[in-house]
Amino acid sequence: MKTGFQHLYIPGPTNVPEVVRQAMIVPMQDHRAPDFGDLTLGLFADLKTVFKTRDGTVMMFPGSGTGCWEAAITNTLSPGDKVLMARHGQFSHLWIEMALKLGLDVQVVDLAWGAATPANEFARILGADRDGAIKAVFVTHNETATGVTSDVAAVRRALDESFHDALLFVDGVSSIGSIDFRMDEWGVDLAVTGSQKGFMMPAGLGMIGVSPKAMAASATARMRRAYFDFADMARMNATGYFPYTPPVQLLHGLRRALDRMLDEGLDTVFARHHRLASGVRAAVSAWGLRLCAEHPSIQSDTVSAIRTPEGVDAREVIRIAYDRFNCSLGSGLGPLNGKVFRIGHLGDLNEGMCLTALSIAEMALHAAGADIAFGSGVAAAQAIYAKPPVALGRTAAPARIAAE
Ligand SMILES: Cc1ncc(COP(=O)(O)O)c(C=O)c1O
Repeated sequence: MKTGFQHLYIPGPTNVPEVVRQAMIVPMQDHRAPDFGDLTLGLFADLKTVFKTRDGTVMMFPGSGTGCWEAAITNTLSPGDKVLMARHGQFSHLWIEMALKLGLDVQVVDLAWGAATPANEFARILGADRDGAIKAVFVTHNETATGVTSDVAAVRRALDESFHDALLFVDGVSSIGSIDFRMDEWGVDLAVTGSQKGFMMPAGLGMIGVSPKAMAASATARMRRAYFDFADMARMNATGYFPYTPPVQLLHGLRRALDRMLDEGLDTVFARHHRLASGVRAAVSAWGLRLCAEHPSIQSDTVSAIRTPEGVDAREVIRIAYDRFNCSLGSGLGPLNGKVFRIGHLGDLNEGMCLTALSIAEMALHAAGADIAFGSGVAAAQAIYAKPPVALGRTAAPARIAAE
């Protein structure tokens, strides 16, 4: 029998705050009732605040981030369209696979798993694309498999400086609501996320920000779509409804989760994630281990992918943490399986929880054969967490963007 908490330190689904869980315990409700918009219209408005878009439309599809990847592609592109994508981890890889399955002509820039989106290489390719054959550029903002954050603004600059009209697609599944993301300012046309990471919710809601340019593209794009059709969703959402049955409980949970995020303040959330990440990174270097991220400037504040030492199987670390210490750590995905374990440090999390994750990771690493001095990583993280956080206060949060 396992006693106590089941520790969850994977980079999504993240821990759901108790108040959010309680908010989802509601009787079934008529999603066509005249007052249903009282719940939903405020959600759409607040999602715009989180996505930082005034001009765009944010929709929710029952589903997950992957569904919204598909929605983004099928609504705005046509079969055979050329698109530019980088592969540097499992999620960017899977998005490429989907684009191929859907019949796009994908120009792939292959990179080390641990590298970031190569804005310079994209600039070179876009600059050489004189006829505008490339219809879309894809960026995985935060590659959850490797713990790498890419510079979306730099890709926007690459497009602008090449006078290129391609749409900018961003996978923000583990970034939106968790680290700095600015849909309008960065000229993002399609911004995809899901409910189970920074939004501190169960999986089940895919969210997608659509710019006016992407919405216009959807009027002429020829790829087939049905369930994920933007036009149907946007028309119904405008009055607070959905073209089919929405997961009402999740919408109630989202109301409470958005309240928490906006009350804490987005900038404060981002600063907290940075602080928690800094402690985890300090622990990794105290252990003498390396992160998967190739350079400190691209290390993610939401997840750390930690390389195990030569001869130590990361699968063993994860298994021991789970079996002996009732703790889920993230696995190494694709070619990183067995080489990497991950600690998610996003969502409803604090210093004590990170110290628990690090302490369990130390024991699991040791039991799996790594030469780790007990307490070394924990102490390094404590040295960071013992300093008081920089108080940003709620005023640092961006003003809520009112519903249009
Ligand atoms: C960066 C990234 N993209 C896409 C996905 C897939 O999202 P979902 O599992 O919600 O379909 C994930 C899931 O972890 C992810 O981390």
